[in-house]
Amino acid sequence: MATLEFDHTGEENELPDGSAIAEICEEAGVPFACTEGVCGTCVIEVKEGKENLTEPTQEEKDFLGEGTLDERLACQCRIKQGRVKICF
Ligand code: FES
Repeated sequence: MATLEFDHTGEENELPDGSAIAEICEEAGVPFACTEGVCGTCVIEVKEGKENLTEPTQEEKDFLGEGTLDERLACQCRIKQGRVKICF
């Protein structure tokens, strides 16, 4: 199991390795619009465990650039394993 933690509330969510994080993020209040990596509405900041998220999709690279992986699009990434702490 993997753990997704919201930094600003301390809320922790367990989910199977490899799960998409979109649904949990949406329940926590991250706004979504296109769900296809185009609009950027769902951008999140990764505080810890960025190596535990899947590699950025082409849509994320196009929108966010090839940066430090501190920002991701919640509709695009999956949690591979371990713990990831995010805020939005
Ligand atoms: S909802 Fe549009 S980029 Fe994620």
